[in-house]
Amino acid sequence: MINLKALSRRRLTAIAIVAILVISIAIALLVRALTPRVNKDDFRVYFDERITVAYTDTVRNGVVYINAFDLAEYCELTVVGSQDELKLYASEGEYAVFTPDSAIVDIGGVKVNMPAPAYFDKDTLWIPCDFVNTHFIGVSIVIDTELNKLSVWRDTAEGSTSARPIYVSVTFDRTSAPITDLPATDIKQMISSYTFMTNIDKYKKYLDPTDKKYLMLVNKTTLLGDSFSPSPLTAIDSSLVIYGGSKQLEQTAAMALEAMMQEMRAAGYADVYVTSAYRDYAYQSALFSTYINKEMSADATLTYAEARDKVLTYSAEPGSSEHQSGLCVDFITSTMTDLDETFASYPVYRWLCENAHKFGFILRYPADKVDITGYSYEPWHYRFVGQTAAAEMYLSGECLEEYLD
Ligand code: DAL
Ligand code: ZN
Repeated sequence: MINLKALSRRRLTAIAIVAILVISIAIALLVRALTPRVNKDDFRVYFDERITVAYTDTVRNGVVYINAFDLAEYCELTVVGSQDELKLYASEGEYAVFTPDSAIVDIGGVKVNMPAPAYFDKDTLWIPCDFVNTHFIGVSIVIDTELNKLSVWRDTAEGSTSARPIYVSVTFDRTSAPITDLPATDIKQMISSYTFMTNIDKYKKYLDPTDKKYLMLVNKTTLLGDSFSPSPLTAIDSSLVIYGGSKQLEQTAAMALEAMMQEMRAAGYADVYVTSAYRDYAYQSALFSTYINKEMSADATLTYAEARDKVLTYSAEPGSSEHQSGLCVDFITSTMTDLDETFASYPVYRWLCENAHKFGFILRYPADKVDITGYSYEPWHYRFVGQTAAAEMYLSGECLEEYLD
């Protein structure tokens, strides 16, 4: 006898399984269709001829860049200057000067902001396409991030034909766009898109603190006084420090530093260490006196006041050093004899320029901000401010004084 009840139960179970399968496949297809897919293929860049450019050179932190040298050639601009400062020159008074890692451009003597910093890599300068579109007159770039295609067009003059194009000369727009605050969501999105080579999960909760103390300003006019000391202070992992024994930082900054150095080492930069971190008032006092004595013995004609003025260009008086905040570090490599600008010639410096903000650190004394910070360029000195502030400064090119103003 056939058990009809059992048969219909089996049939119902089979129908249920098939239905679940169909629904799961439909959901999977829907999720796939709705998930934005990023095309990471190389870019095809069309000038007169087609050039292929790696995706990683073209897109950085969501910003689309173009090779300024290729663009200059196409626009008949002359490239002059050095790796630290490159000028695209059209004619007398018509030029744009770019500083790698800075979002500020000098257009014919007027400072103009770009949406993101320029960067130097593979022996060339890369500049944001959007900036070309807003500030280069006579050339435009059509950006297609679905097909990964950049089409560069020059404006043509009357009488131009496709066989014999007559291009108008490229000039520059000096209109300085005000530094606009990026919507918080964009910054959040930027931060959430950071990728890391190692597992930094245990550090993530320290990278973007909301406490405003991480934005404290310490400089020649905003002092900490003799009694300030950060809390809680913690020792930096001994494998990360060199010279003069154990070094301390404020705890959250110390965790962010460890995350950054873990990634730095994974990226292949093992020979870089913290040579200075938290310094108390007394230590800074002794350091400042040592520098005064050094200047006076190097040049016996100097008065104390003259020596002090000289020292003040590179060292803070006690009570005004950011090191007393416990939020900053000085890096050095084992082959450097002094803490000096040679640090900028080590490849790890470029890594720091491109990555420090991902861990909430900023280059505190950039070369183009000496007038504002009051200190000469210190490529080795990094200050913890948290990921949000660091990302905003990375995009705007502002230093801490400008950012807080
Ligand atoms: N070298 C920096 C400015 C300091 O002494 O804190
Ligand atoms: Zn320092």
